[in-house]
Amino acid sequence: MTPIRFGTEEQFTALRRLLRDAGYNDATLCSRAQVSSIYEVLASEIRQKHKPPLDDTIDALMWVLLEGRSISMRSWQHLVPGELTDLLMAMGLLVDQADEFICPLALYPVENLYVISDRNSSTADSVYPALVENTGRFLDIIPRSRCESFLEVCGGTGIAALLGARDFAAHSYAFDIAERSVEFAEFNRRLNGLANMTNSAGDLYAPAGPKTFDRIVAHPPYVPVLKPKAIFHDGGDDGEQIVKRIVEDLPAYLAPGGEFAMLSMGSDRKDTPYEHRVREWLGKAQAEFDIALVSRRIMEPADFVARSVMQGRSDSSEIDQWKRVFGSRGVTALVYGTILIRRKTGNRPAFTVRRQNSDRTNRAEMDWLLDWEGSVAGATATAQLLDGALTAAPDIELRVVNRLQDGDWAATGYQLQADYPFSMELQPQPWMIYLLSKCDGKKTGRELWQQLIDQEVIFPGTPLDQFATALTVLVSGGFLHL
Ligand SMILES: C[S@@+](CC[C@H](N)C(=O)[O-])C[C@H]1O[C@@H](n2cnc3c(N)ncnc32)[C@H](O)[C@@H]1O
Repeated sequence: MTPIRFGTEEQFTALRRLLRDAGYNDATLCSRAQVSSIYEVLASEIRQKHKPPLDDTIDALMWVLLEGRSISMRSWQHLVPGELTDLLMAMGLLVDQADEFICPLALYPVENLYVISDRNSSTADSVYPALVENTGRFLDIIPRSRCESFLEVCGGTGIAALLGARDFAAHSYAFDIAERSVEFAEFNRRLNGLANMTNSAGDLYAPAGPKTFDRIVAHPPYVPVLKPKAIFHDGGDDGEQIVKRIVEDLPAYLAPGGEFAMLSMGSDRKDTPYEHRVREWLGKAQAEFDIALVSRRIMEPADFVARSVMQGRSDSSEIDQWKRVFGSRGVTALVYGTILIRRKTGNRPAFTVRRQNSDRTNRAEMDWLLDWEGSVAGATATAQLLDGALTAAPDIELRVVNRLQDGDWAATGYQLQADYPFSMELQPQPWMIYLLSKCDGKKTGRELWQQLIDQEVIFPGTPLDQFATALTVLVSGGFLHL
């Protein structure tokens, strides 16, 4: 497997400067590939169809360092400054192979940090590339508010910790069990000139010792496998082997008020949804933690097995074994998405919620969810709703459900739908439908309660607190704004 060669501080600084001066950055790469996100560059049709002759320095850097293709030494030397060539060669990032240059690893910008990784998963300890869709999703869900200490477990290239060190953490840490990943993360730290980051090798939190962290993030291996394939990928036969241990040990490492975010997959089981199982994993300390699961995709176990077989990841002879694995554990669904955990500081009860991601859900919406559900659990939300002006969310839809009855369509119910901040459906009671039409941002919850009583839309004896609790459900669902 290709070794890496560390440069001196001067060489790292010069390499960084030359790559920047050449314009090897997110914006240029996206524009060359005609895509809007750096995570789409590798898969872009325009780049895949691209052919020599190459045009300029960026074209050559993309061709060789990002896409892993070879180029004649003559063409390269014509396009790329000699100083950059020498540095890349000195660090093992450019290799001369029969009069052609190749890059045996990959070197690319991610959020304008420079990152090296392996390019493919040919060995068990390959370093997971940071320029893939999954990592893009992971970086979208990490908390980026300022903090003292930020830990990325299962760090791979250390991409989240690198961002933390550059943008929002006084000190950031990346831990990984694979020595090769730790070495690459350290190379990346030095390539980006970040003094406030520590890379360590070890199983999950082992390198932390007694230290605790304000933020912990993870994009661990979570794929169910019957036979081991790669360290970055294998989550044991039910996929949860690493995910569960990350949560179980969280109470020892997440500081009070701290936040945890993990992109992974886990399972709903007979009688216990995934998010409640996560709560159980926290053990004795669970009352200190709020939990939110924001699901992106829910798959039946049989569907997962069928896909594994069709995509060649499993053999058809293993189908019965898969059935036994999922059946014996009572797995009813595999849930891919984000687990958010906050270690709360006040005395209010903890909450556990699940939401469904929509195209409009980002980290800001997840922060809102945690804050809002915290005020619902702490019973401060009802007062806010009664005294605050309420507005119906602008993009919600009310659908009428029709059923065929005796040869004619008959309206049998309604469905409210929202896609912001999450994708949500609700079967509303008739008074809710009326209420939403009256929430014009001018009346408080208390005034609306009185109006609905005066207009006999709700029963005159409806207690105000019960009305307010029903309003919290509408806000949680994204139908009503405060
Ligand atoms: C899917 S990769 C994610 C890498 C990086 N965080 C990213 O998002 O691009 C998972 C990483 O977890 C590491 N890993 C697997 N088992 C681990 C364990 N028990 N302790 C620490 N790291 C582990 C692998 O070596 C791999 O680098």
